[in-house]
Amino acid sequence: MTTNEHSAEIDVQLDKPTSARAYGWMLGGKDNYEVDRNSILTVVQEFPGCVDIARQNRQFLYRAVRYLVRDVGITQFIDMGCGLPTDNNVHEVAQRCDPDARVVYVDIDPIVLAHGRALLANNAATAVITADMREPEAILEHQDTRRLIDFSEPVAVLFLSVGHHLQDTDPGAPRHALRHIIDEVAVPGSHLAASQVVIDDPVRGARMSDKLNGLGVPWQTRTPAEFGALFDGLQPVEPGLVNLKDWRPDPTQPPLEPVPTELHRYVGITNTNTEVYEYGGVLRKEA
Ligand SMILES: C[S@@+](CC[C@H](N)C(=O)[O-])C[C@H]1O[C@@H](n2cnc3c(N)ncnc32)[C@H](O)[C@@H]1O
Repeated sequence: MTTNEHSAEIDVQLDKPTSARAYGWMLGGKDNYEVDRNSILTVVQEFPGCVDIARQNRQFLYRAVRYLVRDVGITQFIDMGCGLPTDNNVHEVAQRCDPDARVVYVDIDPIVLAHGRALLANNAATAVITADMREPEAILEHQDTRRLIDFSEPVAVLFLSVGHHLQDTDPGAPRHALRHIIDEVAVPGSHLAASQVVIDDPVRGARMSDKLNGLGVPWQTRTPAEFGALFDGLQPVEPGLVNLKDWRPDPTQPPLEPVPTELHRYVGITNTNTEVYEYGGVLRKEA
C-alpha cells in the first residue's frame, strides 16, 4: 500500500479486496493493498481480459461524459460507484467542456470519500458522498445532492462498471438502483450511462461470479441481453449498447496511467480473447 494521510482517517477493510482499490490498481492507481492486487492476479489467471476491459471502461467514461456535456448540453451528473480518483475524473472532463458543470460522486467504499475530498477541496461544484446506490432515495435527500443538482433540468446519472455489483438477489436491485432517479425524478432529456462486465456464455459468467463472490466482492456477471433488459423504455443513443471499446472510439483521447508491471502481460489480450467484455452505453429519457 502506498499510504496516504487520508487513509489513516478511515476504517480500511484489509481482510478482503475492495472493488475501488482493485479496479484502481488496473488503472495504474497507487492506493491499494496486497489483498487487492492478489485478487486481480487470481482473477486474470482464468479471465485474462479483465485488465484490458477495466481500462476500456475508463476510456469510455471520458467519451461518454464529453458527449453528454459537449453534444447534449448536460451540466449536472450523479456518478454512482465513482471509484477512486484518477486522471480525467468526471468533473474534470465535464468542466473542461463547460466550467459550470456540477458532479455528485457516490461510492459505498469510504476510502473514496477520503481521497475524493482531497481532490475536490477547491472545487465547490463537486461533492463526494459515501452511500449505497441501492438506496437512491437517500442519495436524493443528501444535502450535497440537493445543493448541486437541479432536478428541473436534465441530469446524467452514471453507473459505469458497477452493474456487476448489483445482484438480482439484493432486494430491489438492480432495477431500483439503476432506474429510480431516471424514472421517478429526472426530467425528459436526462440521460443514463451504464456498463458492466458481461460474458455471452451464462455458464462462464456464473463461474466468474462465483470467483469474485468467493474473494469477497459482491458480483453478478450478466449476458449482454440480461443487462440490456434493465433499460427498457429508455432510448439508447448511437451506437446503442455495445462492447465499450466500440462506443464512439476516439484514438486521440488522453491515455490512462500506465499499467502496473505485474499486469503488463495481460495488456492487449482482448484483441484475441473476447470472452469477457464491458458492455453498455448512453441512454436518453424521452418525453
Ligand atoms: C469497478 S469500480 C468503477 C469506478 C468508476 N465508476 C469507473 O467506471 O471508472 C466500481 C465501484 O463501485 C463501487 N460500488 C460497489 N457497490 C456499490 C454500491 N452498492 N453503492 C455505491 N458504490 C458501490 C465500488 O466501491 C467501486 O468504487
